[in-house]
Amino acid sequence: MSNTQVPTNHKRLIAWVDEIAALTKPDAVVWCDGSKAEYDGLVDLMLKDGVAKALPKRPNSILFRSDPSDVARVENRTYIASRTQEDAGPTNNWIDPDELKKTMSALYDGCMKGRTLYVIPFSMGPVGSPIAKIGIEITDSAYVVTNMHIMTRVGTEVLKVLGDDGEFVPCLHSVGKPLAEGETDNGLWPCAPLDQKYIAHFPEERLIWSYGSGYGGNALLGKKCLALRIASVQARDEGWLAEHMLILKITSPEGKAKYVAAAFPSACGKTNLAMLVPTIPGWTVETVGDDIAWMKFGDDGRLYAINPEAGFFGVAPGTSMDSNPNAMRSVEKDTIFTNVALTEDGDVWWEGMGYDAPGKLIDWKGNDWVQDKGNKAQPPAAHPNARFTARAANCPCIAPNWEDPNGVPIDAFLFGGRRPSTIPLVNQAMNWVHGVFMGSITGSEITAAALDLKVGTIRRDPFAMLPFCGYHMGDYFKHWLTLGAKADASKLPKIFFVNWFRKTEDGKWLWPGYGDNSRVLAWIFGQCDGVAGQSVETPIGIMPTIDAISRPDGVTEDDMKELLAVDVEGWKKELEDIEANHYPIFKDRLPQELRDEIAALKKRLG
Ligand code: GTP
Ligand code: SPV
Ligand code: MN
Repeated sequence: MSNTQVPTNHKRLIAWVDEIAALTKPDAVVWCDGSKAEYDGLVDLMLKDGVAKALPKRPNSILFRSDPSDVARVENRTYIASRTQEDAGPTNNWIDPDELKKTMSALYDGCMKGRTLYVIPFSMGPVGSPIAKIGIEITDSAYVVTNMHIMTRVGTEVLKVLGDDGEFVPCLHSVGKPLAEGETDNGLWPCAPLDQKYIAHFPEERLIWSYGSGYGGNALLGKKCLALRIASVQARDEGWLAEHMLILKITSPEGKAKYVAAAFPSACGKTNLAMLVPTIPGWTVETVGDDIAWMKFGDDGRLYAINPEAGFFGVAPGTSMDSNPNAMRSVEKDTIFTNVALTEDGDVWWEGMGYDAPGKLIDWKGNDWVQDKGNKAQPPAAHPNARFTARAANCPCIAPNWEDPNGVPIDAFLFGGRRPSTIPLVNQAMNWVHGVFMGSITGSEITAAALDLKVGTIRRDPFAMLPFCGYHMGDYFKHWLTLGAKADASKLPKIFFVNWFRKTEDGKWLWPGYGDNSRVLAWIFGQCDGVAGQSVETPIGIMPTIDAISRPDGVTEDDMKELLAVDVEGWKKELEDIEANHYPIFKDRLPQELRDEIAALKKRLG
């Protein structure tokens, strides 16, 4: 591939690309135009290289197997390099920005030798929307370019909006594996060893530098790096919200619609809830977004949300025609699969796909794999964090107005996590401050979405933003409180806490989840409308009466009682843990309002 013409007169942009090319020393520089021809050309290239595999069963779809060391976000190697450590706060890794730039510049020096440098102009949000933002990603990975084509709006249109002097977030990415003269990747996923990976953010400069990983949020820099870590800082400064939230539209049998935004930690059910097929008659759910929401107050005082993304980077394992048919249909074509298993007839398979492995497979590591259902210890064929990259436009339940540049008005916020005990199925905050308190104490069992954590142990993940907040988390709580205090309380979204993941003592799910979560959404819908007689006030918040939520098959009245019980002893332990281990880390940046909420809750619990 040879250099393409520079399609812009934006001097700062051209200078930045020249500077990075001089540092990284690629064989060629290509400005991406976002066209189908460009996408197809890159796919051909990767198929020829052997790093991508064709999937004849799924039109226009390909499979990648990553390096076994490069399968998820790396939180231990992710940095918020603000000028002072205090601004990054106790929940982020920090290195002095000058020092980090020095270390990373040495790594970037010559890192693209033997490769092509791609310049990707992309828009987060509909091109030209007043809420949208422009990023320019420089990468040496064709995998990243093709994924960005699906996940964001890429191309010439974006450069037009940028003009000669527009604002953009520079996003520098390299897989960190230069090639010697004549060397190729030989069909293997290029990346750098763990101790050379850096996912770095310079919040004051609105700058992103990523090195050494090709996977997901580490490499598709529009997603977690720009749309959450950098955008959260911009949102703090400008008075809006950048959140790790799905956005859904729910319509009642009477034809009334509401919009719900929900924050659950990684691999805790956002994509599934966003695409839910209700099991209660007459209700429909449509998807606006499945991972990120940007929200601003409109002139009418309501909070409006856009989905800054254009696709889904969704967890494959557990996705089936039963659990999430809309996701299954979204991945029938035009999809990039990463770390799922390959069948003999050229299709994909993963654990929880709804049927047994159809014969011999090639697993995510590239080895032959034959299902042995007798062997509970058999390593999975698909990596637990295997993902699909699919176009939102291919989703059968995408809301017709999902690209409305002005966003959709949010009626309810949901927070939640994986909690086998204590936390009830649903609980409504008594007011905004109480809701912020509930968001701030969110705990969840750790999942496979991050590489370096112990799966299954519970950690606090406030607002599901622990790995994604670009500044001091105490200030982030304050930001939520400030926005609420300034707003017209009657127009603010109501706040709820949900938990689909309660377990019985012998480890079975107490609640079937998925489509049956619509039953909880219907109650929430009623709460937003002030429906009388369906709720009771409890020490922990406003909860459904025992028969307000219709029971799915297999859920007994006793199960429901357990799901909706106020576990006073459990909550006391919860508060002890928050007071001993969670809140103290924020020191004097923990808002007094949240301390007061703890005291008030303690009193109510007796
Ligand atoms: P990220 O993309 O990492 O942010 O994850 P996510 O929050 O979108 O999670 P996703 O919807 O992909 O779900 C992750 C896993 O949780 C999948 O294996 C799902 O099958 C499972 N899951 C989702 N919803 C439910 C539910 O209601 N109940 C149960 N038991 N499991 C669920
Ligand atoms: C998450 O981990 O929350 C994801 C996947 O959505 S990634 O894009 O890798 O961050
Ligand atoms: Mn996510």
